Order: sequence, then C-alpha cells, then structure tokens
Amino acid sequence: MRHLLTLRETSESDIRFLLDTATALKEILQRPVKKVPTLRGRAMVTCFYENSTRTRTSFEMAAKIMSAEAINIAVAQSSVAKGESLKDTVRTLQALQADCLVVRHPSSGAAHFIASQVRIPVVNAGDGRHEHPTQGLLDLFTIRQIKGELQGLEVAIVGDIAHSRVARSNIWGLTRMGARVRLVGPRTLLPADVDRLPVQVYTDLRSGLEGVDVVNVLRLQTERMEKGLLPSLREYSRLFGISVQSLRVARPDVLVLHPGPMNRGVEISDEVADGACGVRSAVEEQVTNGVAVRMAVLYLLMGGGGMSGQD
Ligand code: CP
Repeated sequence: MRHLLTLRETSESDIRFLLDTATALKEILQRPVKKVPTLRGRAMVTCFYENSTRTRTSFEMAAKIMSAEAINIAVAQSSVAKGESLKDTVRTLQALQADCLVVRHPSSGAAHFIASQVRIPVVNAGDGRHEHPTQGLLDLFTIRQIKGELQGLEVAIVGDIAHSRVARSNIWGLTRMGARVRLVGPRTLLPADVDRLPVQVYTDLRSGLEGVDVVNVLRLQTERMEKGLLPSLREYSRLFGISVQSLRVARPDVLVLHPGPMNRGVEISDEVADGACGVRSAVEEQVTNGVAVRMAVLYLLMGGGGMSGQD
C-alpha cells in the first residue's frame, strides 16, 4: 500500500517521477475534450475537515478528467457532526469501496493516522501545520516549468511560516531537489524548530530577498494565530509585505508564487499578485498546474503502478 503523506519522506527520484508524470499529463488540459479513460471504474473520495477552494476542486477535476468517480463528503453535513470519530469515518469510506482517500484535517499527523487505519491509498491534502505535499509539488512543478530546473535556485519563503504546512512541504521538496531555501519573516512567525530545518533564516525582508530567484509568499493565517504575534496588519505589511519596491533587491527575473488564498494589501500587493509593473507572478499558473500534479498523484496511486516510498 502506498500513500502521499509528506514530501519529507518522498525521495528525490519519486519527486522527479511525479513532476515528469504531471508534465506528460498536463497536455490533456489543453485538449478541447479533457477526458481520458485511465482511471475508469475507480472512485476517489475527498473528505475535508477544513475549507478549501483550490485543492478540493482540483482533485475533483483531476479525477474526473481521468474518468474516475469523484465523491466529496461534506463533513459538516456528515455523521462527523453526530460525533463519529476520524477512524470510523475513514473506515466507513473504505467499506463503501473508495479506491483512494484525499483528506484535509486541522490536526498535524492526521494523514499518517488515517493511513494507519485503512488499506487504500491516502493523500494528505493538508494536515494542521505539518504538510501539504501536493501544494509543495505544484510549487516545484511551476518553478521548474518556468526556471527550467530547481537545482541551485535561491528560494525565499516569506511570511507566516510558523502556521504554514505549505512552507514545510516546500522546504523538504525544494532542498531535496537541490534548491537553497531562505525563511523570511518576523521572529514571532518562525517555527519553534527552525534551527533543525535545512534553511537560512532572515528577520529582515531586504536582506532575505537580496539576489533570490523565487519568492514564495505565504498567507497570514490569522485564524490559527494566538493574539499578540503581530503588532498590526498594517505594520506587518510595511515590514514584510511583498511589493514591486521590495522585489527590487531580488534578481531581475524573480518569480513570485503564492499558494492562495491571498490577503491582498497585507502579505502581497495587487501589482505583484496580478503580475503588473513587470513582475513575473505565477499565481494562476500554480492553480492550473495543481490539476496536472493531482492527476499525476491519483494516476500513480490508483492506477499507474505506485511510487517506491511512503509506506
Ligand atoms: N493552497 C490551498 O491549499 O488552497 P485551498 O485552501 O483553497 O485549497
């Protein structure tokens, strides 16, 4: 049985294989009829205990393009609301003959727990502050597509790193593929274990952005924040907001990513988000690439022979 739970536990060769598979499958998205029979007869079930627009929709699109059934459990209207446990919920979905579970949950480690409870493949669609591996993969895919390679790139991840599962999947995925990673943000928004991560840390935006090839801007996750971590949103924006001006110290061809949803005017200006004033923003390409990457994940886990790691 194989799963996709983290990029920390995914080998360089599996990441490369996933990205290459996504590159091949992306061509289907450009066809007038976006449908192939690859996963006909299979059923993917999405079960999201937290809100989502991009991840859930792109998994559904990915499954449907490959002719799999895509069934979503509306958690708030499900028996979870009657107190059914996570273990009983996922075992019930397995008994309903799901071929793959795609799960988002507010608790770090939930995806590993689910994988230990079922015999079918599990994809982590975000677990607490831990990881969001398909977001990490689509970020790697987007950077590789635009920059040509990941090896040797200098990538700054800016903002609310403490609460970000996207940051962790980026750190493990990028460093495994030979990029150098900088974490840039106020001390209060750095994770407690930052000293054990394979990164350089900057608490000053100007030095953190100097000479970088890529800036991945993170959302301020105010819903997960304790009070007092930031003086004010205005102050945060002044010191760490990514604007056309703050990007001047980066490389002239700097590429800007944001996983979404964006707080425009807080962590990112409208001009940068929309790719105005000569900025190379890949925000919408990331969303499109998310479908190709999730097609690759579903193909490899549900029908195409699996990957070597991630028991
Ligand atoms: N990036 C991301 O996970 O977005 P959603 O929360 O909309 O899925």
